[in-house]
Parts: sequence; structure tokens; C-alpha cells
Amino acid sequence: MIEPENKRGLWTSKIGFIFAAAGSAIGLGNIWRFPYVTGENGGATFVFIYVFFILIIGLPIMISELTIGRKTRRNPFGAFRMLKPKGYWKLAGGLGVLTGTLILSFYSVIAGFTIGYFFLILSGKFRSIHDVSQSAGIFENFSGNPVNTIGLSVLFILLTGLIVIKGISKGIEKWSKIFMPLLLVLLILLVFRSVTLEGSLKGLEFYLKPDLSKVSVSTFIQALGQALFSLSLGGGGMMTYGSYLSKKDNLVSSAGYIAGFDTLIAILAGLIIFPALFAMGGDPEGGPGLIFVTLPSLIMKMPGGIIFGASIFLLLTLAALTTTISLLEIPVAYLVDEKGWSRKKATVLASLIVFLLATPSALSLGASPWFSNMPFLKIGFMDFIVIVFANYALVTGAFLIAVFVGFSWGIKPALEEIELFGNLFRYKKSWTLLVRYICPLAILSILGYMIFTGNYF
Ligand code: PHE
Repeated sequence: MIEPENKRGLWTSKIGFIFAAAGSAIGLGNIWRFPYVTGENGGATFVFIYVFFILIIGLPIMISELTIGRKTRRNPFGAFRMLKPKGYWKLAGGLGVLTGTLILSFYSVIAGFTIGYFFLILSGKFRSIHDVSQSAGIFENFSGNPVNTIGLSVLFILLTGLIVIKGISKGIEKWSKIFMPLLLVLLILLVFRSVTLEGSLKGLEFYLKPDLSKVSVSTFIQALGQALFSLSLGGGGMMTYGSYLSKKDNLVSSAGYIAGFDTLIAILAGLIIFPALFAMGGDPEGGPGLIFVTLPSLIMKMPGGIIFGASIFLLLTLAALTTTISLLEIPVAYLVDEKGWSRKKATVLASLIVFLLATPSALSLGASPWFSNMPFLKIGFMDFIVIVFANYALVTGAFLIAVFVGFSWGIKPALEEIELFGNLFRYKKSWTLLVRYICPLAILSILGYMIFTGNYF
């Protein structure tokens, strides 16, 4: 069926949309971050808390974002403005566009690293590495070289732009349908390889054995923050993707598939990292350096290490690419809807802006002393952007979306949109309760905790 506003583009099938949206959700957050956060926060206990938050906070907010997007068929700014033309609500949408754009700026730097490491591993550079300090040295050289960091982030933004410029069905949907099955196959092969290594059981035990002694208030903050980030919520990403959905599609079941897929992949990613790490005698508490430092230092100890290592970085690259596509689509949709620009012009300009914003982040990992340790702030530029946008702005955005749907735009019109074409929403009472009270309260408490303790997730 041709829908009236399909000039902006529409997904051509539900499965195409699920692949694209799951592609947005499944990213570095799942494959790089989730495993080590889980390892540090009590294994299976953390997974349990995490899944609980996905169900009571993530899903209701995802349904809300998809509903606002599809109802208005607009980018986040335009969506809020259309539903509440007067007052300040449109600023909440504007914050979403800003958040998505700035998350993309640092994300493309790390994503660029995954391509770089793919080639570094293939080049055999780690063949002569015997300990972590040597591979830490390689990482320092790599991240301190502006040609690498800027060049690779430009490459990543370029790849992203080439797909986004083609539009929703011919660009994003088409490529998601290729990348996501590939990612899945690669992931399953890697899990299989990792858990069949000798000595892998210890890794499984570290990863999943419930350990209550590692659970504290901060565990809950980590779990909730990770849940929002991993599901691409709070930054307008799901809202934008929802704006291209057919009115016939079931928003609730779509949200369920996306969240289920995302959680499954995150848990499986840990089954690649930890069994391999323990089998080769590595230190599990590698933190963020786990992937770029610990893993490469051990990789050559296993038979076929080059292939195993390169495949992990290929997996990370694929996961990151489907995510950067969804992030770039946020400012692109904004420019197309609000400024009336062609997709081509919007994509070129948005990519350029992202590149300019990414450059200081790319220089902040050693290449420029000033950006690596900024005066007053005493942290690097990239860390600063991560804290402000991937933490505070993202969480604030999720809070505003819940309050907007719960109290301002309204539960009733939202339910009307959700139940179009006879798509009955069986759990609407629970959803109402969650969106109105539980989500805002839970999110407000993590915001309060972050502000008072200066911690973040
Ligand atoms: N969900 C993505 C990941 O896990 C990150 C993301 C956050 C994307 C917010 C869009 C919006 O890597």
C-alpha cells in the first residue's frame, strides 16, 4: 500500500525494519561493553537485573519512541513540535537530535579503531607479542597517531554516509538485511570456537556465575544505563526509525523482537570473549581495554589466532556500522523534514558536521595533549562527550520521552496509534503504569545518583 507521506521513505517489510532497528541497537555497546560490565558486576546476577530493566524500562520506552515516530512521521524535533506546537517540548526533540549526533561523533572514532585492528591483526603485528604491556604499547602508538584515528573515523563516516544517502529502503534496509545475518553467523561461529577451547569453562564461570558480593547500588545504575544505551533509546534513534514504519505494523511486537534480539546478542558476545580469555590465561578485569589490549595480547596463543582475532574485529565493525547508520539518520531526518533539503544534501552536510565533531575526539586519545587532557575539565575530549551525551543527555532524553507520553501528549492518543489496524495491545494497563510512574522514577533516580556522586555508567 502506498502511504501518503512516503516521500520521506518507508520500510518495505517488517523484517527489514526489525533488522535495521536491531542493527541500531546491536553495536559496540553489546559486543564490547556488555561483556566486561557483566564480568565486573556479578555475572548472572547482573544479567538478571539487566533483563529486568529491559522489560520494565527499556521496552515501555521503546514502544513510546516508536509510537511518537510513527504517529508524526517526523524526526524527533519535528515530532515533539507537531504533537505540542506550543511550549518547550520541542526542545526535548531537539535534544534528541543533538544527542544522536554527538554520540555518533565519538562512536565513529571507536568504530574506526575496529577496522584498524582488523587489519593490524591480519598483518601479523601481534605475532611477536608475549604480554599485555607490549600490546598496550601498540594500542598507545595506534591511538596516539592522528593519521590513524582521524583517517579511520573519516572512513567510517564515509561508509555510513554512502548507505544513508541511498535512503530508507534502498540504503538502510537493504544493507541491514545483508549485514545482520552475516553478523549472526559470524557470532555463532565465534561462540562455538570460543566455548570449545580447552579451559574455556573457567571463563564461563567468571562470566555467568552469580556473585552477590559484586552487586551494589552502582550495579543497578550500570544495568539501567546499559539497557537504555544498548536499546538506542533516549537519543531519538528509535523514534526516527519508527517514523518510517507502516501504520499496519505491530509496534509492540516489533519492540519485543528488537529488545529480545539485542539482549540475546549481548549475552552471546560474552560467550566469545570470556571463554577465550580464560582459555589463554588472561585477566578478566580488563575493563574497556579488554578488546583492544588484553585480547590482542593473547590471540596468537591459540591455534588459528589470526582468523579468530580478525573475525572478532570484523564482527565489531559490522555491529558498529549498522549502529552509526541509525545515528546519522537522526540529523539527516531532521534536515530533510525541517529544512526541506534533499536526502543527498542533508547526508553530505550531516556527515561533514559529524566529521568536525569527531576530530577532537579522535585527537583526544594521545595525539593532542590539549584534547587528551583538557584544562579545567581534567579529562579528554572524548570522555567529556561520552559523559555529557551518552550518559546525561541520553538518560534525560529517556526521562522526557516517558513524561511526554505519560502526561503531556497522552496515553490515549498513543494507544490509538499503537492499536491501529486492529493491533490489540494486551498489556496496555501495565504499559501505562510503567511509562507514567515506574520509568520516570527509575530514570530520575539514576540521574540523581549520577549528579550527586559524579559517577556515571
Ligand atoms: N545501541 C548502540 C550500541 O549498543 C548505541 C546507541 C545509543 C545507538 C543511542 C543509538 C542511540 O552500541
